[in-house]
Amino acid sequence: MTDEVKQRKIEHVNVALGQDVSAPQRASWSDIQFVHQALPEVDLDTIDTSVNFLGHTLRYPIFVSSLTGGHPDVMMINRNLARAAEQYGLAIGVGSQRAAIVNPDLAPTYAVMREQAPNAFIIANVGAPQLIPQARHEAFTLEQVQRAIDMIGANALAVHMNSLQEAAQPEGDRRAVGEARALKALTAQVKVPVISKETGAGVSREQALLLRSCGVSAIDVGGAGGSSMSAMEAERSRSRGDERTLSIGLLYRDWGIPTPIAIVEASTARLPLISTGGVRSGLDIARALTLGASVVGMAFPFLKAASESYESVCELLETTIAQLKVAMQLSGAATIAQLREVDVVVTGETRNWLTMRGFEEDLKAMAQRRWRRI
Ligand SMILES: Cc1cc2nc3c(=O)[nH]c(=O)nc-3n(C[C@H](O)[C@H](O)[C@H](O)COP(=O)(O)O)c2cc1C
Repeated sequence: MTDEVKQRKIEHVNVALGQDVSAPQRASWSDIQFVHQALPEVDLDTIDTSVNFLGHTLRYPIFVSSLTGGHPDVMMINRNLARAAEQYGLAIGVGSQRAAIVNPDLAPTYAVMREQAPNAFIIANVGAPQLIPQARHEAFTLEQVQRAIDMIGANALAVHMNSLQEAAQPEGDRRAVGEARALKALTAQVKVPVISKETGAGVSREQALLLRSCGVSAIDVGGAGGSSMSAMEAERSRSRGDERTLSIGLLYRDWGIPTPIAIVEASTARLPLISTGGVRSGLDIARALTLGASVVGMAFPFLKAASESYESVCELLETTIAQLKVAMQLSGAATIAQLREVDVVVTGETRNWLTMRGFEEDLKAMAQRRWRRI
């Protein structure tokens, strides 16, 4: 089991970097359109992008999503990401810490993040399927989860929800009964805020309310539209010759609730939201924020840049931040709080879905936020 988890960590990174595992959706960010302000009365250079997230001030509403750790070869990636998080004042997540929980020798591949980012908001990571007994292993104890938090001096703990990935994984955990109960017990016992995090299939209104009842402090909606864990597992199954999970991985590659929709659905729970899944520009970040996200996560773009160099991560951030500021200026928002009050029109498949799900009035209100105040 120890080597199996370690090996999986490096395979995920290699597959994501070597193959196209994205799963674009018909409901996409381009459905979210700002109402342009011809005379915006906002200077590009004085825009304030800072946000408050779980009691922390972040200079930018950007979250470097949980990616990796657990293999010596990925240490450089975590080092580059953490250096940038410290430099830019970002929130950052480590990948699932299961590898180091079962093999403490691997702890440095995660701890490197805190070394490089002494002041950043760092988020620990364990899986919901590992909180319950599975066919191949016992449930994590509270002490083991606490060890993951302490390993990186974490400010928060993400519990990832990845039933689809487990189903598509040759060696995956198949049980899910009891996860909500285990999550509730966990939130009552750990000292840091718990964030429940989907990994590409999104969070619905009902599930967001369930998560709130479990005591989570925030939700990462982890919607469909970006990296597909199902596609990633399909590639691993292919190389192992496991036909059954290969077929599942391919069939469910684009399963899930697209990210823009998941933000609107999950906002029903009135918890801080992280929007992750297919965010590929500063304009997408602005769109997620105006829909109700508190911070916005990107995984694959950071993985690719960090596998090159620290400078590439900084370049990605500079470009993304510049793009975000243009969206803010052109929609007349000098702060992130103002960005949440500008007019935005939701069209296409995103609108169709949200209308069918009873969000018609919310969409209308979003399109008229500013002019209703005039
Ligand atoms: C190589 C790779 C490894 C990942 N490992 C984890 C993980 O260990 N824990 C987790 O919560 N999410 C993990 N994710 C999911 C990401 O955090 C994110 O939710 C997903 O990639 C969608 O974002 P993106 O479209 O910007 O890539 C991983 C993603 C990739 C590409």
